[in-house]
Amino acid sequence: MRYGYFDDVEREYVITQPDTPLPWINYLGSQAYFCLISNTAGGYSFYKDARLRRLTRYRYNNAPLDCSGRYIYLRDDGASVAQTEELFWSPSWQPTRTPLDAYECRHGMGYTVIRSTLAQIEASTRYFVPMGENLEVWELTLTNHRTERAQLSVFSSVEFNLWDAMDDATNFQRNYNVGEVEVADGVIFHKTEYRERRDHFAYLACSEPIAGFDTQREAFLGPYRGYAAPVGVESGGLSDSIAHGWQPVGVQHVKVELQAGESKKIIFLLGYHENPHDAKFDPPESQTINKRLVLPTIQKYLQAKQVEKSFQELRAFWDDLFGKFQITTPDEHTNRMVNIWNVYQMMVTFNLSRSASYFESGIGRGMGFRDSNQDLLGFMHLLPERARERILDLAATQMPTGGAYHQYQPLTKRGNNDVGSNFNDDPLWLILSVAAYLKETGEWGILDEAVPYENQSGTEEPLYGHLQRSIQYTLDRLGPHGLPLIGRADWNDCLNLNCFSDSPGQSFQTTTNKDGKVAESVFIAGLFVLAAQEMQAIAHHRGDAADVGAYIEAADTMAKAVWSAGWDGDWFRRAYDDMGRALGSRENDEGRIFIEPQGICVMAGLGLEDGRALQALDSVAEHLETPHGIVLHQPAFTRYYLHLGEISSYPPGYKENAGIFCHANPWIMISEAMVGRGDKAYEYYLLINPSVREDISEVHKCEPYVYAQMIAGKDAPTHGEAKNSWLTGTATWNYVAVTQWILGIRPTYAGLEIDPVLPSDWDGFEAVRYYRGVRYRIKVERHGTGSTVRLEVNGSPVDGRVIPLPEDKSGEVEVHLGLG
Ligand code: GLC
Ligand code: GLC
Repeated sequence: MRYGYFDDVEREYVITQPDTPLPWINYLGSQAYFCLISNTAGGYSFYKDARLRRLTRYRYNNAPLDCSGRYIYLRDDGASVAQTEELFWSPSWQPTRTPLDAYECRHGMGYTVIRSTLAQIEASTRYFVPMGENLEVWELTLTNHRTERAQLSVFSSVEFNLWDAMDDATNFQRNYNVGEVEVADGVIFHKTEYRERRDHFAYLACSEPIAGFDTQREAFLGPYRGYAAPVGVESGGLSDSIAHGWQPVGVQHVKVELQAGESKKIIFLLGYHENPHDAKFDPPESQTINKRLVLPTIQKYLQAKQVEKSFQELRAFWDDLFGKFQITTPDEHTNRMVNIWNVYQMMVTFNLSRSASYFESGIGRGMGFRDSNQDLLGFMHLLPERARERILDLAATQMPTGGAYHQYQPLTKRGNNDVGSNFNDDPLWLILSVAAYLKETGEWGILDEAVPYENQSGTEEPLYGHLQRSIQYTLDRLGPHGLPLIGRADWNDCLNLNCFSDSPGQSFQTTTNKDGKVAESVFIAGLFVLAAQEMQAIAHHRGDAADVGAYIEAADTMAKAVWSAGWDGDWFRRAYDDMGRALGSRENDEGRIFIEPQGICVMAGLGLEDGRALQALDSVAEHLETPHGIVLHQPAFTRYYLHLGEISSYPPGYKENAGIFCHANPWIMISEAMVGRGDKAYEYYLLINPSVREDISEVHKCEPYVYAQMIAGKDAPTHGEAKNSWLTGTATWNYVAVTQWILGIRPTYAGLEIDPVLPSDWDGFEAVRYYRGVRYRIKVERHGTGSTVRLEVNGSPVDGRVIPLPEDKSGEVEVHLGLG
């Protein structure tokens, strides 16, 4: 069953009924000001950091699930008492949930439009964040389809967050006292803590003269009422309340008269502004916000023409990004994801890591070290300058040992001490992201950038040195089998082999009560081989023969350890526990085979020559494949194992306990492509492709336009049901799998390589890809069933699969590839 449809021409998903199985959301903003917005206008806004600088409130885990937002109400001031059921309503359906005569929500690239009609009044609201601005526009267009004049009231409403979202949700004894606002010329300013250490405030402005306002929530809603029936809306008049403490809100009342057939635009702005510290107040000795610096921005965006212009700029920004890589294949799901939604989701994960979604509260996690490094892998060609900055930020949270803070806060860019370090895979991901950057851009200067450790000035060292320490970090932490010690956890955050926790509520992530000198990870071993190979190539390019030798040797030694202790006969083992027993082995009753080591080891090239890679992949197909994707392991853990940690805390089939953890699926797609099995790689690709799953939205439940972190596995009663949509490494990895390995358009240090491993029923595809300033027009044609490649560049045959870098750094290259 579907709840909408894709409009690929507009690059939108169109939701046609408001009661989707879960809120289906979109993100606005892609630089510093961000919003989450659902198909019923739920969600919240923040500046840079969803925890430390939150503008509006959102109450998670509410009933109904999604009921805080940027809500507009309409009131029919001309309605007679007999028509009271239509006296007022929400054009976004929530929060009044008045049945609408027509409803449509279009989630587009950085904007959302919610349009509905009730009582012949059409309301269409376009929400977006103009490029380069710290504000969101809600542009409401009202149209009177009646044959007579309509007298309406429009109400805007937001509930302000007192900035620190964690504190706001917990510290009520203080927070009920500190809320402050100012109202001037119809603009509501939220200025809690501005009188002391904050130089920033939020504002809600409107293009029309306002008939009234409220800034105290209780005054607007009325005692014992909620947002479904605010007394201010019901009575048709606000009380001009000024919040002193309690819950500051921004609510404005606009009266509108529309002739039959007439339309009118009303613009609301919700924004964030920071004043220079020494120019906070006006007059300087007062406690009144200095508004002189923000007013020009407010006035500018209250103009409909400017709003339209900014909207077109936003569209141009995205057109430009999408233009960097477009494909035409025989399959609409592949085209749609690769050309539109997968790229869009990568931008969101790049910006937000795992911080703020409808499943991540924005409080718990900032930017993850392993997460953000992986998020970069498919992102490089989009905004390489921003990728470069991110790499340097991440590296600056590394420690002198080569280890890394597991997370950092985007506002401060400082490592998070609560979570700390010792996730032993973390540092190696930095090598992969830097390698991807170099392969995309050829800009080797990044390796010489001076980057501090732990953000301490004076500790700077070239980025290359950071990468060397990443490798050394693993080498300094090898276990009894010569495999890397796992630390708190490797990629699988829930495999906590050094945390024997029997106390309820203890964090599996940070509890470590074993000395950590026994439990080893085959996954990190595979990742290490991959990373050491990249280091070897990088050292080679730098002409450092000694390093090249050292990295070859390190990779070889690790590969030997994998073969002697990490191979189980039919597949790669997962780990050794604190007692030195194998996990992910036929010796185990539960957790006999895991997906991660099969993917990472084959990606590192292990077993490609002697058939063991194929064997491992066949084992994946035999034991882990389901109709909804590949599960993390089998058999699921049916009880809690003290020595395994969080993994066995989840009920079977969910999350890391044998859920379909989508992030790891593309590793198998890539591996299948590496062994030349295009059909299998593509079959796996389609299984979790959200556009394919649109048809079973009632089962999948999450948005059909973005990947979810997890789909319930075969051991779960709700097999096929997705959770944790949007913020997942699945976005970047699937993009890498399909573009670089199935379509085979792969940046390398030496140039763009074309090496498709296509499904057998495709006769080819076309692509346009910008690479190092040059436009490549690529046409792949299948002549036979094999994957032998005949490459022609600008009409001349070229040996191998790598297109030589052209002399002209801005020209166009025609690539013809015969496959057969
Ligand atoms: C979550 C985490 C990620 C981890 C994965 C598997 O997605 O963000 O860091 O690798 O779970 O546990
Ligand atoms: C939980 C989740 C895992 C996530 C981790 C982050 O363990 O299951 O997916 O990576 O929390 O803290």
